[in-house]
Amino acid sequence: MHPSSLIAITRDVSPSLAACELSFVERAPIDLDRAVEQHRAYRSALAALGCEVHDLPAQAEFPDAVFVEDVAIVVDEIAVMTRPGAPSRRGEGATVAPLLARWRSLRAIEAPGTLDGGDVLRIGRRVCVGESARSNAAGIAQLRALLAPHGYTVQGVPIHGCLHLKSAVTALADDTVLVQPAWVDRAAFAGYRIVEVDTAEEHAANVLRIGDRVISPACFPRTHARIRVAGVEVVAVDVSELQKAEGAVTCCSLVFTSAP
Ligand code: GLY
Repeated sequence: MHPSSLIAITRDVSPSLAACELSFVERAPIDLDRAVEQHRAYRSALAALGCEVHDLPAQAEFPDAVFVEDVAIVVDEIAVMTRPGAPSRRGEGATVAPLLARWRSLRAIEAPGTLDGGDVLRIGRRVCVGESARSNAAGIAQLRALLAPHGYTVQGVPIHGCLHLKSAVTALADDTVLVQPAWVDRAAFAGYRIVEVDTAEEHAANVLRIGDRVISPACFPRTHARIRVAGVEVVAVDVSELQKAEGAVTCCSLVFTSAP
């Protein structure tokens, strides 16, 4: 039997990134060369944390395709190809599915369901799904039906004022979450130790947990201090150009173990 390894699927920045979807962020000029360089550094951070990085080629026809997290949900037993809420993003998964199929049996969200991976926060066997403009009740119900046989509970969580659930909350550890209380009710995470983002750093709740460390945008030093006080090491990466495309650190990868 092969030892399991940590896989990270990423996709190169689209040359059309400037035409990305935006919901809660004002459009601002994006320096594409800088975005490409920042994405390279992000991949290097994943590799330094032990991930085997599989980078897919950029897709000029899909401005948001770098945000590969949104097209699939990967759990230990299966992967679920999503049906993204933005129609412009529905074709992005077609080239991710064959790669994911190396490690997982694939399922899919079907119309009229919509689901963005950015709305799906898994902590152990609990799966929270943001009730957002991108993920609808049918999508959440389909995910529940697909994951229930594998022992997961799937719960809808209302959000407001942000794109995805993981804009508002991510996990720092199995018992600890990082929350932006302006965008999600802390009560949904009763029972967890809650670390709040610094009030000066509105978008800081999105961190990518790799083992006992988290990757976080470099522009949130105050929240990093809070995370460190909670006992979690922070790896800071500059993703400023991707943030202008309403992206964050979880969006840019699908991370999972090759053989759980
Ligand atoms: N630009 C990221 C998204 O809206 O999907």
